Amino acid sequence: MPRGQLILIEGLDRSGKSTQASYLASKFPQSKLIKFPDRSTPIGKLINEYLTNKSFSLSDQSAHLLFSANRWELNHEIQTALNDGFFVILDRYIYSGIAYTLAKHDDDDESRTISDSQLGDVDWLIGPDRGLPKPDLTLFLTLDLEEISKRKGWGDERYEMQDFQSKVKQCFLKILNTETDPSISIVDVGQKSIDEVSTLLWDVIESKNKHVLINDPISYI
Ligand code: ADP
Ligand code: TMP
Ligand code: MG
Repeated sequence: MPRGQLILIEGLDRSGKSTQASYLASKFPQSKLIKFPDRSTPIGKLINEYLTNKSFSLSDQSAHLLFSANRWELNHEIQTALNDGFFVILDRYIYSGIAYTLAKHDDDDESRTISDSQLGDVDWLIGPDRGLPKPDLTLFLTLDLEEISKRKGWGDERYEMQDFQSKVKQCFLKILNTETDPSISIVDVGQKSIDEVSTLLWDVIESKNKHVLINDPISYI
């Protein structure tokens, strides 16, 4: 039986991911919208504590592994939905996992006495996600931080700081290689209204035939 496709929307905080992901989900007759981190699961609750309570401390490696474990909690649900003919729309996924941790390494203070070299090792960072379903299409929404900063404000969660976000953006662009991976599209959404972005994303989806059921097996990270 043909399956649905796995479509991921990635980007910085406030780039419009959640707005576009829910619109996109409404475009398909059968779809499922999944947001990562999913804060409702056992591991998601720990992640929520980590993000919202700055005195709740975890090593950077442990936090990284928890975000990946949270994806594994939803693995069966995602694959079952795809095989049942649903289009699964993801709001963040593995690339957020890599980029946010990589940005911590770039943030590294050279006077640290304990080496955290894993944080800069993309192979190590992707390791725990190996075996998860790979998106058929990744849409990375990019726009200037200056424009982003004018959008409705951040809360006070961990990572919601301008300097760190700018490092995250560089890290995303470092790991998202459109030349070696045709499933990745970097979409410039600067100076565009919500409706214009929706149209643009749908154009990419249609041009790459990601809106139709397919017979190809699910691929894996
Ligand atoms: P994210 O999920 O990436 O953090 P959201 O979809 O929650 O981003 O959008 C963040 C804020 O920016 C919301 O207030 C949303 O209404 C607004 N927004 C989203 N897309 C646009 C756009 N293209 N132009 C202007 N404002 C936008
Ligand atoms: P949210 O604001 O989209 O709910 O995401 C919560 C934060 O978690 C956001 O700052 C990005 C970060 N994050 C990671 O650090 N690693 C991950 O794997 C994911 C999915 C999100
Ligand atoms: Mg969001």
